[in-house]
Amino acid sequence: MLNKMKMWKNKAQVHRKEDLLQGPMPAHVAIIMDGNGRWAKKRALPRMAGHYEGMQVVRKITRFANELGIKVLTLYAFSTENWKRPKAEVDYLMKLPEEFLGTFLPELVQENVQVRVMGNKEQLPAHTLRAVEKAIEETKNNTGLILNFALNYGSRAEITNAVRNIIQDIQSGKVDINEINEQFFASYLMTNDLPDPDLLIRTSGEIRLSNFMLWQLAYTEFWFTDVLWPDFTEQHFLQAIYEFQQRGRRFGGV
Ligand code: IPE
Ligand code: IPE
Ligand code: MG
Repeated sequence: MLNKMKMWKNKAQVHRKEDLLQGPMPAHVAIIMDGNGRWAKKRALPRMAGHYEGMQVVRKITRFANELGIKVLTLYAFSTENWKRPKAEVDYLMKLPEEFLGTFLPELVQENVQVRVMGNKEQLPAHTLRAVEKAIEETKNNTGLILNFALNYGSRAEITNAVRNIIQDIQSGKVDINEINEQFFASYLMTNDLPDPDLLIRTSGEIRLSNFMLWQLAYTEFWFTDVLWPDFTEQHFLQAIYEFQQRGRRFGGV
């Protein structure tokens, strides 16, 4: 409670879900969930404790995004660069999908959430892949929120792959070079059936993209906060949506 009061002191107002539901809702929200390690460090806990706590926040924010009628929630869970971390941390992160889905999957099924994963799945350990494929399979007919985990995802790899696949299709005669335009190119990306994100959130005070959705974020509204991911609440999410609703999106027009 004290923490909450401190948090609200600097804010102009507390936002209510009911009020924000009157305004335009972003259809696709993407989040770079950052700051788990620093959250743990502040408490003299191992980094894994921060990842565990971050997973609880994923559960909370997924439920909330669904309630708000958001169509797609993309969460950056593991980047192609995160393999550089100590093996023990990588191993822990690769166990999290099982841990998360093991307890949360029934709730996702019941709440009509459709789980997806974008990223290079072939490089994932077999146990991680098994857990995510089970979740994808069990929720594939759900029609509510699309919960899209970016797992072993890197935007440069995604774009490079798209180029390779397009060239292959040209060489095999399936595609004519004159067909290639922006829309065609986007159809070779992992987001081919999703709208571009309307709102990007990054926590923990880092102001960078870290190889996340470089193509798809071309006209996205960005919202950064110093709050560490394990401390992220529904109220922070509402703050981001409130500010999104105040912005004038022109897409190059007037
Ligand atoms: C984000 O938290 C989670 C992942 C990248 C997997 P970090 O682990 O990057 O936390 P910090 O940035 O070290 O605080
Ligand atoms: C980005 O966070 C990746 C995820 C949140 C999964 P990082 O913590 O890996 O990014 P950098 O290294 O600070 O740029
Ligand atoms: Mg980080």
